[in-house]
Amino acid sequence: MGASTLTITDNRTGKRYDIPIEHGSIRATDLSQIKTGADDGGIVSYDPALANTASCKSKISYIDGDKGILRYRGYPIEELAEKSTYLETAYLIVKGELPTTSHLGMWQHNIKMHTMVHENLKAFMQGFRYDAHPMGMLVGTVGALSTFYPEARHVMDLESRRVQTRRLIGKIPTIAAYAYRHGRGLPWVYPDNDLSYTGNFLSMLFRMTELKYRPDPVLEHALEVLFILHADHEQNCSTTAARMVGSALADPYSVVAAAAAALSGPRHGGANEEVVHMLREIGSIDHIPELIKHVKAGERRLMGFGHRVYKNYDPRAKIIKEVAHQVFSVTGKSPLIDIALELEKIALDDDYFVKRKLYPNVDFYSGIIYDAMGFPVEMFPVLFAIPRTAGWMAQWAEMVLDEEQRIARPKQLYVGYDERPYLPLDRRRDIGAQETEVHGPL
Ligand code: CMC
Repeated sequence: MGASTLTITDNRTGKRYDIPIEHGSIRATDLSQIKTGADDGGIVSYDPALANTASCKSKISYIDGDKGILRYRGYPIEELAEKSTYLETAYLIVKGELPTTSHLGMWQHNIKMHTMVHENLKAFMQGFRYDAHPMGMLVGTVGALSTFYPEARHVMDLESRRVQTRRLIGKIPTIAAYAYRHGRGLPWVYPDNDLSYTGNFLSMLFRMTELKYRPDPVLEHALEVLFILHADHEQNCSTTAARMVGSALADPYSVVAAAAAALSGPRHGGANEEVVHMLREIGSIDHIPELIKHVKAGERRLMGFGHRVYKNYDPRAKIIKEVAHQVFSVTGKSPLIDIALELEKIALDDDYFVKRKLYPNVDFYSGIIYDAMGFPVEMFPVLFAIPRTAGWMAQWAEMVLDEEQRIARPKQLYVGYDERPYLPLDRRRDIGAQETEVHGPL
């Protein structure tokens, strides 16, 4: 093997540059030495959507998109889904190792100590409109938590980071459940710390007049698996939002609120909601070819298909497909599953999808499971945000401690006007609606 450098020849000047390669990457800042003269700021890399830019070094999640591999801290997702619990996996993600028996006990205790929320926060949530989207409620309420814990702004303090991490993982199911009950006009159920993390969540969502809610073990287990699968996923859009906001040393509640806001978009955590809408709209297997026709004409996307990183089957989708059958043994078969299975079969046989390496992603089957379990579609992104909080907190802490990180500040390629003098009002011509370029996008 040759030297670990990349040689670049600038054809504008004829100069050659040897740029070191480390971990299969070059430092974008090394490009800034490539200049045509003293006034030139140097070459920058242009990468809209950061599609080929590593913005950090991380030890948390590993993905091999071509092979369909996902590992947390080195452990394959398949093994964690089969053998672990959500809280144990959250510990692994946050702390870096699987816990011993005593550490797991302490961790579970510490999370449970933080499941309740301040009554004023409850009052804050009651201020939302009766039909508020639960994801909007979650984003706003998590942001509001920073006002209850002002010491959270000491982000360099280890003890503060630890407490806020436990608080966020502990409180987010409570906030999510309150958002759900608010939309239904139901009284809000306080946490039951005798139950597991997911069992308590189900209790806060679905408990009615019974004195003690007993979650169905199959559904409780299914939720554990879904939470494990969603706990982290390296530098996706919401995690990048978390790291960006965190790089300004904002407090972790603001960080998680920003991350959840990014997650709410239909291209990200909102996709499972779109999958169910799409399957309902298809309505019957006979209508699938018509939909595929529109997708192939570029008029719409097949929701729950495709992934920026996985160019093979998303390993999480494989596990979720199995869980779906377990859930249906309790809830009865969802009418959407036959449509989904047929859609998958047709798409995986079709050249359009094969050529573009479009496979079902995590959202394709998770929405069907949540639907069968009785969750309204608006809750789906919330169900994604709850387990992802562990990932966001781990990624945030890693960023805060990374000495190479500074406040995030990407460059731009300015393509607008050169300097021009201010135009007095009476000399401005009428701008026609057709001149949208001049009018701007707003
Ligand atoms: N249906 C139909 N065509 C698609 C789809 C799709 N779902 N996804 C990508 N394509 C096509 C796209 O039109 C393009 O075709 P062409 O080369 O002819 O222009 C090609 O595949 C590449 O697409 P892209 O937009 O460059 O791919 P991307 O890596 O930027 O987008 C994605 C990834 C997940 C945003 C996209 O696949 C998508 O919009 N999928 C549907 C939404 C979805 O299921 N999102 C959940 C993602 S997994 C959970 C998460 O991480 O949040």
